[in-house]
Amino acid sequence: MRTFYAADIDPELIRQRRVAVIGFGAQGRAHALNLMDSGVDVTVGLRAGSGARPACRAAGLTVQVPEEAAASCDVVVLLIPDEAQPAFYREVLEPHMPPGAALLFAHGYNIHFRRIRTRADLDVLMVAPLGIGEQVRATYEAGGGTPALLAIHHDASGTARDVGLSYAAANGHARAGVIETTFRDETETDLFAEQAVLCGGLTHLITAAYETLVEAGYPDELAYLSCLHEVKLMADMMHHRGIAGMRRSISSTAEYGDYTRGPRIINASSRAEMRAMLAEIQDGRFADELDRDAGNGFPTLTQGRQDAESHEIETVGARLRAMMPWLR
Ligand SMILES: NC(=O)c1ccc[n+]([C@@H]2O[C@H](COP(=O)([O-])OP(=O)(O)OC[C@H]3O[C@@H](n4cnc5c(N)ncnc54)[C@H](OP(=O)(O)O)[C@@H]3O)[C@@H](O)[C@H]2O)c1
Repeated sequence: MRTFYAADIDPELIRQRRVAVIGFGAQGRAHALNLMDSGVDVTVGLRAGSGARPACRAAGLTVQVPEEAAASCDVVVLLIPDEAQPAFYREVLEPHMPPGAALLFAHGYNIHFRRIRTRADLDVLMVAPLGIGEQVRATYEAGGGTPALLAIHHDASGTARDVGLSYAAANGHARAGVIETTFRDETETDLFAEQAVLCGGLTHLITAAYETLVEAGYPDELAYLSCLHEVKLMADMMHHRGIAGMRRSISSTAEYGDYTRGPRIINASSRAEMRAMLAEIQDGRFADELDRDAGNGFPTLTQGRQDAESHEIETVGARLRAMMPWLR
C-alpha cells in the first residue's frame, strides 16, 4: 500500500479544473472551504430550498443548483448522504455532467455495492477522509490535515489518480498522508469498523457497563462519568500514542485489569460475531438489509434512535454536561 505526501503530488492539477461540491453538510462544508482556501475554483451545488445557502454565501462560496454546478464543472464531488446518492446521480448528475468529467466520492459504498452505475466516459474516484467533516476543516485550518484514502474505480481520462491526489492535497490530506486503496477495501473496512468498534461496539459497551453499575445500586452520575465521560481521555491517549502508549500512562491496577478482564468481554464468542458481521458486509447482506429498511421508511433505524435517545444515560449525561459548558 503506497502512502502519498505533498512532495509526491502536483497541487496545480486541481487548480486547473472547476470543482462542484454537491452538498454543504458535514463533509461538503469542510471540502468546499478547504478547496477555496487552497485556491481551487469551487462552486457548491445546493437544492433551491436548501437552508445551507446563506451560510455558504456568507463564507464567500459560489452557490448554484446542482444541475448547473454539475454541468459547468470538470470535477463533481458527491457529498450528500449515501442513501440519497443513487437517485440523485441518476436524475441530476448523469444527465448534466459534461463528457469526460470526474465524479468523486468520499465513501465507496454506492459504487462497491453497485447502487450507482456510472457513465463510461466519466472518471470515478474516491478521496475518503479518515475523520468527520469538523476535523477535516479544523485540522486544515490549524495547518495539518486528516489522513485520507484514495481509490480509482474508473480511469477514462488516464489522469484520475493524479487529479485525485491533487484534490486530496487541496483538502489538507497530503499533510497527513493519502493512502491508495480500493473501493472494496475502503467500504468493507469502514462498515466493519463502525459496526464493531466506533459506533455499534463502543456505544453498546458503554451502555451495558453503565446499566451494570446502576443495577448494582451505584449512583447514575458515577456510572456515567466512569463508563462514558472518561472514554475521551483513553481515546485521546490511544490516538496520540497507540494502545501501548496509553497503557504506559495508566496505573498498574488499571493495566492488570485490562489484560486479565478485557478478554472476558471480548472473548471467543464476540470474535465469532465479528467474523459473522464481516461476512454479512462482504456478501452484501448488510447493504440489502439497509436498503429494505430504507425502502420501508427506516422503521428499524427510527426505533433504534428512539430507544437510544430515551435511555436514562442521556438524561444523566445532559445534566452533568450542563455543568461543563466547555465540552460543547
Ligand atoms: N459525516 C462524515 O463526517 C463523513 C466522514 C467520511 C465520509 N463521509 C461520506 O461523505 C458523504 C457525505 O456525507 P455527509 O455526512 O457529509 O452528508 P450530510 O452532512 O448528511 O449531507 C448534507 C447535505 O446533503 C444535502 N442533501 C441531502 N439529501 C439530498 C438530496 N436528496 N438531494 C440533494 N442534496 C441533498 C443537504 O442539502 P440541503 O441543505 O438541501 O438539505 C446538505 O447540504 C457520504 O458519502 C459519507 O459516507 C462522511
